[in-house]
Amino acid sequence: MSPALLLALLGITVPRVQALTCYRGTLVSVRSASELPLQWTTSQEHCEDGWSCQEVLMLMENGPHVYVVLIKGCTQAADHEALVTQHRAGPGLSIASYTRVCRENLCNHLSTSLPLWAPPLPTALGSVRCPVCLSAESCGSAAELTCPAESAHCYSGVLLLSAGSLTTHLKVQGCMSQAGCNLLNGTQEIGPISLRETCDPKAILTCHRGNMFRTSQDLTQKPVTWSANSEQLCNLGEVCQETLLLIDVGIRSLLLGSKGCSKARTQGSQAVSIHTGPPGVLVASFARFCSSDKCNSAASSSVLLNSLPHPAPPAPGDLQCPTCLSIFGSCTQNSDIVRCPKGTSHCYKGHIALRGGGLTSPVNIQGCLAQPSSSLLNGTKNIGVFSVIEDHDKAIVPDGAAPAPDLAWVGGLGLSLALWCGAPSLLIPFPHDS
Ligand SMILES: *[C@@H]1O[C@H](CO)[C@@H](O)[C@H](O)[C@H]1NC(C)=O
Ligand SMILES: *[C@@H]1O[C@H](CO)[C@@H](O)[C@H](O)[C@H]1NC(C)=O
Repeated sequence: MSPALLLALLGITVPRVQALTCYRGTLVSVRSASELPLQWTTSQEHCEDGWSCQEVLMLMENGPHVYVVLIKGCTQAADHEALVTQHRAGPGLSIASYTRVCRENLCNHLSTSLPLWAPPLPTALGSVRCPVCLSAESCGSAAELTCPAESAHCYSGVLLLSAGSLTTHLKVQGCMSQAGCNLLNGTQEIGPISLRETCDPKAILTCHRGNMFRTSQDLTQKPVTWSANSEQLCNLGEVCQETLLLIDVGIRSLLLGSKGCSKARTQGSQAVSIHTGPPGVLVASFARFCSSDKCNSAASSSVLLNSLPHPAPPAPGDLQCPTCLSIFGSCTQNSDIVRCPKGTSHCYKGHIALRGGGLTSPVNIQGCLAQPSSSLLNGTKNIGVFSVIEDHDKAIVPDGAAPAPDLAWVGGLGLSLALWCGAPSLLIPFPHDS
């Protein structure tokens, strides 16, 4: 065994060479075939010890369009000579790649698409016409072109490409030499790029995407608009979702909304849930998972409000509780002491950690509660796309039927907290994903 290998097995790495500087850049673009061959310049980066320089160029030609993917930078991949691979031969749709990993300063210096490009050969045209399109959006009514005689099959599919944090989708229509959904001809990786394709248009949805966050006094009464300002192309197997969570403590309410793609929890479902109340703290939600394009299209919070009970404002009862609704911040110091509605019997103090759908929000809650159960969510772990964890103190049942509430005020905030919360204020840490 060589000393170097022995050291490697022991987990000790010996700096063999100095850290390299490599060209660095990413290009993902649909171009006109007439722009080829392409040329580019990129910036540089300093690598960590032992890393190499990488360059990957992928070209997908499709009649008048070319899809270009270029990735350059430092890598831990094994060194290899320049490699040109024809993954799918033309005429018509064709895919080729150039990959190289080298260990010299700025050795990933390919600056043109020439290694993968040859002037198009004259080809005899056949009689088949296909729509021809490369688009990150929708192909719509793509122009039809007459196919080369050797490529007499129309292909229509979606190419999913990911490399590190980069993920893109490309709708592809064009002429191919084979029938079926096999543009990639078995290729799944090109260097750091992972490739997948699907020809089932329903397998990939477009969904509305956007988050909403509102706090106000009257969100249980007045609907607010719930629009999403962008769209999202989902990954294979995902569906559209929209989730709206309403928390109201009487003096303040909070709405959290999320729209986007999601791995289906319960496909094709729509539900309004009232997790707690009224009277007292209200926690209610609307959640929908659906599987047609942009079906997560609820336009206002009335999808939830219309399903809530709207009793006449309850008469004030005898109970008083510290009341607070705080997102991100804590409730411990500044809670208002509020006279609770009739029908409530406990003071609640707790915290809901909420994650998912692009949101991470700890919500602190104090208020009046009707049920003897001291929980708002009763163990619920999921509300639509949100994962929720509730953490709460034992609900306080004030002694005596009618505590002398005004006395609490006399003593000021400190006394009222002591009276109604019993225990010293507690900062509940935000739970982390397990
Ligand atoms: C498909 O890939 C195989 C090897 O991976 C290659 O020999 C063949 O030519 C490819 N087919 C086409 C149509 O490009
Ligand atoms: C709370 O959950 C338990 C079991 O999950 C259920 O039996 C009970 O009815 C629920 N309570 C309320 C108030 O929904």
